[in-house]
Amino acid sequence: MLVFFTCINTGPEAEAVCFFFAMLGEAGPRLWGTAQLQAATATFVAMKSAYRDRYGPPLVLSIRELPVPAPKEGEIRIRVRAATVNRTDCAILLGKPFVMRLICGLRRPRHHASGTDFAGEVEAVGSGVNRFKVGDRVWGFDDAGLGSHSQQMLLRQDKAVAKMPAGIGFEQAAASIEGAHYAYNFINKVKLKPGQTALLNGASGAIGSALLQLLKHFGLQVTATCATPQLMRIKALGADRVIDYLQQDFTQEQGRQFDYVFDAVGKSSFAACRPLLRPAGVYISSELGAYLQNPLLALLSPILPGPKVIFPVPFRPLESMAFVGGLLERGEFKPLIDRSMPLEQIAAAFDLALSGQKVGNLLLSLD
Ligand SMILES: NC(=O)c1ccc[n+]([C@@H]2O[C@H](COP(=O)([O-])OP(=O)(O)OC[C@H]3O[C@@H](n4cnc5c(N)ncnc54)[C@H](OP(=O)(O)O)[C@@H]3O)[C@@H](O)[C@H]2O)c1
Repeated sequence: MLVFFTCINTGPEAEAVCFFFAMLGEAGPRLWGTAQLQAATATFVAMKSAYRDRYGPPLVLSIRELPVPAPKEGEIRIRVRAATVNRTDCAILLGKPFVMRLICGLRRPRHHASGTDFAGEVEAVGSGVNRFKVGDRVWGFDDAGLGSHSQQMLLRQDKAVAKMPAGIGFEQAAASIEGAHYAYNFINKVKLKPGQTALLNGASGAIGSALLQLLKHFGLQVTATCATPQLMRIKALGADRVIDYLQQDFTQEQGRQFDYVFDAVGKSSFAACRPLLRPAGVYISSELGAYLQNPLLALLSPILPGPKVIFPVPFRPLESMAFVGGLLERGEFKPLIDRSMPLEQIAAAFDLALSGQKVGNLLLSLD
């Protein structure tokens, strides 16, 4: 009966029945029998999704075939073409640091699918949607999680989703969101001036590789650190000088002072970098630091003499995407891409991201 219904219906009714079975979730196989449920959902246009129902290491993730959901009022359904597996995804997957659980669900993750960013196409719109239409190419981000490691996803049109930059492919777009958003939130906390000098630690990461390009866009002289295999790539991205961190500790640089030290991998401390900074210099790190020292020092900085610490709390992803999107369209930004992995290898992709050794952005292909 249900199979018949699904054979002859492809409209909202079919999607509603489909959604009902998605809602049954774990109970579906018990109530209906796994074979029957699979037969029923296979009749629909099904979607593959990286699924978990608890926080934990990558092995909590499995690939599930789920019915395609119907957009409700104000929602769009997006056919996700590319996403990244990034360090924000890692924090949400593990539920660590604990503060992530306050945002993403206290006992278990609110979204069954992992994923914070995406590039794709609008495939269906709910009632009242006026910002997007079917066929629009869109990209978006939410550092509290979106469920974008899924071939299809629903999103409210008033969230951080925008039309993709013109002439840019899905993979290029997806690789220009998360790291670039955090990088933009380093530089929008300071007043960059052409000719200023910056030391950038960790230029081969997602944040670092984006930050390097933004600093060069604003005319800074950049000394960047990375490991030996990445020296040429980081030079090609625009670094004026490159330090191989495997050979040399950048904090021991003699006779040079900088207007900024940006630690994009959070491996240094303000105390170690202070001698590298001019008296009006600024230190910004992507990590909280031991004993939360970076946000605490940022609070004390205004009343202390000498170089300042700023903690780059990120906000307004649409603003970052608009800025980076403009650079992408003008050919002034090229995301550093490690590799692209299929959705089926989601656990291996998370292992790589968690290792802290990906080079730039790790793409997930959802075709
Ligand atoms: N909690 C969150 O939600 C959150 C979100 C985003 C970012 N972050 C933090 O921000 C930092 C950067 O994120 P990301 O995505 O840009 O990182 P990433 O892409 O994972 O960074 C990896 C890169 O950093 C390089 N690296 C590792 N140790 C280094 C060192 N001591 N000196 C210089 N380079 C080093 C690695 O090179 P090799 O493999 O060649 O060593 C690799 O290319 C991370 O610490 C991350 O935890 C946190």
